[in-house]
Amino acid sequence: MEKILNLLNIANTAIPKEKKLITTSLAKATWYLKKGDPVAIPTETVYGLAANIYNENAVKKIFEIKKRPAFNPLIVHVASIDSMEEVAENIPPIAYTLAEKFWPGPLTLILEKKSTILDCITAGKKTVAVRMPNHKMTLELIKRVGFPLAAPSANPFGSISPTSAQHVANYFKKELNVVLDGGECEKGIESTIVGFENGKVILYRLGVISKEMIESVVGEVELLNVDENQPKAPGMLHKHYAPKTKMIMSEQPLKRANEMLGSKIGLLIFGNENLPDSRYIAKNLSENGDVFEAAKNLYAHMHQLDEMGLELIIAQKFPDSGIGKSINDRLSRACWSEMNYTSTNIFSE
Ligand code: TXA
Ligand code: MG
Repeated sequence: MEKILNLLNIANTAIPKEKKLITTSLAKATWYLKKGDPVAIPTETVYGLAANIYNENAVKKIFEIKKRPAFNPLIVHVASIDSMEEVAENIPPIAYTLAEKFWPGPLTLILEKKSTILDCITAGKKTVAVRMPNHKMTLELIKRVGFPLAAPSANPFGSISPTSAQHVANYFKKELNVVLDGGECEKGIESTIVGFENGKVILYRLGVISKEMIESVVGEVELLNVDENQPKAPGMLHKHYAPKTKMIMSEQPLKRANEMLGSKIGLLIFGNENLPDSRYIAKNLSENGDVFEAAKNLYAHMHQLDEMGLELIIAQKFPDSGIGKSINDRLSRACWSEMNYTSTNIFSE
């Protein structure tokens, strides 16, 4: 029924003339979303692969395109705080407090879902993840289509997240009709995920909104143990956000590289790191040591190093607090550690 209504709805609008995959045409993005085809959308964190939350086929296409396992639920993107109530119920007051403080922005709230929310979005859970992204184009798109958008990051499952329209096109030029180009993502790493259990606030995934920032609003929060066997948020899986090239982390990347003479090594460094040795290709995430800039550049620099045919990438470990902790979280999941090789975690790839 939903499908028929959608088709009737778009039958009145002409097929968009724009032929290019990467486009700024909201009309084209609207047309395909209403038709039931996934569309890549910009957000301030990373690009998302979006579909109408009420169209089961469209949502299932996201899982197919990404090769994402069905047990990994999607985030619902809304265009206002009020729209939380379209998808969730029994919303705790503290969720409103957080939304008012951080939305639109890189914060996802895990709430009790409404019965209208499809099981394929929540992977059968009773909760739904909701966020209002801080990107003008996408907020306008959600208003135009008239339904919230289910969207995971627009990368094949387990790979580096995309922070530009070109990154998405590199992954999915065959599978998609539209990559809506909203420029480079301002924040650069995925949203912070917060849930509520038995009156406690739980942090499921670190992001540019740090644990400290959440705590300044709601008091002490619990960071879910990242080593537990059945992670609540598979963004917490080991080996995620990963380049094809082997990557390791080190407090002293140059020293580590010098110990491995002969290898074709790329360095992912941070701050005023002195690099007297021109044998190595180095990408600096922020020469000024600005962690926000480093987060913004993280995936773009990883994409670049990954295309250089290197044998190894050595990433510098960040000071382990605030956003540095969130960046370390992503780096360590992108790394090839003993844990990745030997993990018996059923969620590991
Ligand atoms: O910044 C972001 O969050 C980006 C942009 C596109 O909004 N999206 C993103 O989506 O990172 P994705 O699918 O790559 O990560 C969503 C995470 C997954 O780890 C998933 O397990 C978790 O959110 N999640 C979704 N629904 C959940 C739920 N009901 N309970 C716990 N975790 C949930
Ligand atoms: Mg992702």
